[in-house]
Amino acid sequence: MNEPLQTSGSLRRRLMLQLVGSAAFLATLLFFVVLGFARDVAQQTHDSILLASATSIMDSVSVQADEITVDIPYAALSMLGNVSNDRVFYRVSTRDDVLTGYENLPTTSQSVRSGHSAFDTLTYKGDSIRMVTSLRRLSLNGAPADIIISVAQTREGQAAQLAQLSRSAMQLGLGFFLVATILAIWAAQSSIRPLKQLTEAVSRRGPKDLRPVQRPVPSEMIPLVSSLNRFIGRLRVSLTRSEDFIAEAAHRVRTPLATVRTQAEITLRRVDRAENRASLREMIRAIDESSRAAGQLLDHAMVTFRIDSLERKAIDLTELGRELVDRLQPIAELKDIDLHFFGSGNPKITGDAILIQNAVRNILDNAIKYSPNESAIQVSTRQNGNTARIQVEDEAGGFVGMDTDALTQRFTRGENAAGTIGSGLGLTIAREVVEAHGGVLIIETSKTGTGACVSLCFPLH
Ligand SMILES: Nc1ncnc2c1ncn2[C@@H]1O[C@H](COP(=O)(O)OP(=O)(O)OP(=O)(O)O)[C@@H](O)[C@H]1O
Ligand SMILES: [Mg+2]
Repeated sequence: MNEPLQTSGSLRRRLMLQLVGSAAFLATLLFFVVLGFARDVAQQTHDSILLASATSIMDSVSVQADEITVDIPYAALSMLGNVSNDRVFYRVSTRDDVLTGYENLPTTSQSVRSGHSAFDTLTYKGDSIRMVTSLRRLSLNGAPADIIISVAQTREGQAAQLAQLSRSAMQLGLGFFLVATILAIWAAQSSIRPLKQLTEAVSRRGPKDLRPVQRPVPSEMIPLVSSLNRFIGRLRVSLTRSEDFIAEAAHRVRTPLATVRTQAEITLRRVDRAENRASLREMIRAIDESSRAAGQLLDHAMVTFRIDSLERKAIDLTELGRELVDRLQPIAELKDIDLHFFGSGNPKITGDAILIQNAVRNILDNAIKYSPNESAIQVSTRQNGNTARIQVEDEAGGFVGMDTDALTQRFTRGENAAGTIGSGLGLTIAREVVEAHGGVLIIETSKTGTGACVSLCFPLH
């Protein structure tokens, strides 16, 4: 029945992996975008200072007495020193001559127009440098002369700054990834939660609870719940049909059986031969067995039917117990059994009185049936905390060596039942009724140790 189901992965894990995967991708993207952006900003800042330095040198170039003079202001180079401790190089030249500065400083490969500048990243003396080249056209001896100014700086400070930026971007990316992962776990849990809640609600139900699922569920789960409800509906119809069939069959069998029994008894009175009387007695016994079975089957079907749509009314357990004891007193008297009732308080419960009467009657019926002649049976009710209990104690020897759980299953009878008419449904009916009311059936040995003590415990009203 309970074959292990095959699993094809886990929805939560799949969702979580997808979300964490997306978070990892976004974190990496964030890392590169932030790093690229920071690198651009750092480069632009550095370039602006290089340009400012070149411009300030350019401003110091003038033509005096047909000679080009350069008076490099201190601030022009010191402003670069403020940025980092990197070495600074410069060169002021015309198209043909180097006027001042580092002669072997590399030249830009770009063509620079007057009033414009070009930036290059080059290698000088084995170090990477960033260089700006600016050009200005002056008039010398009535002819145009191009002044080219290059200012360069090594990039060690910039590299250190970039490493620092990468670390920050990495921390940012990691932080983002961690937060996104926590959110992904939360999102995966919360999207699976309605499914879990539905599973719990369905598995918490009693075996007889075939009501459709009505709790609100997310729209995606509607098809699943609709199919489940349709399935429950079909199951309910087919169960009701088979219970109806059993009830109908039992009813149809009981009436002719009663006629046959009457006829057999009449014949028994007329017959004298011992062996004929013995077979007639045997026949009557078999008829009794069959009608008891039919009666119990009918009761069981009725119980199943009523449990399905359980009536919930206030019931006084003491009153119910006393009434039943009065009703069964004549049967107990046939065996000279002293049937006592002791009701303490008036414990009130909620439920279906017909079902509870049926359950208690089956327990009392057992006590009378299995008790020896001239013994005593004590029926009592009491309230214990928030449970109401009705208990039947007898002197019938109890359930010694019997598996009491098994006895509450259909058609199971104990060894002591041999020779006693019965069908093995009494305890099943009692257990099903008690459980449908949210209670428990407790089977134990009586305090005196001479018999059974069967209790039906219900939650209080
Ligand atoms: N009070 C009791 N003392 C001793 N044994 C009991 C007692 N009540 C039940 N039993 C044992 O438990 C078994 C199951 O009881 P249950 O009432 O379900 O079936 P039954 O009495 O055999 O048949 P019926 O359906 O007619 O009641 C009995 O066959 C009997 O062996
Ligand atoms: Mg019984």
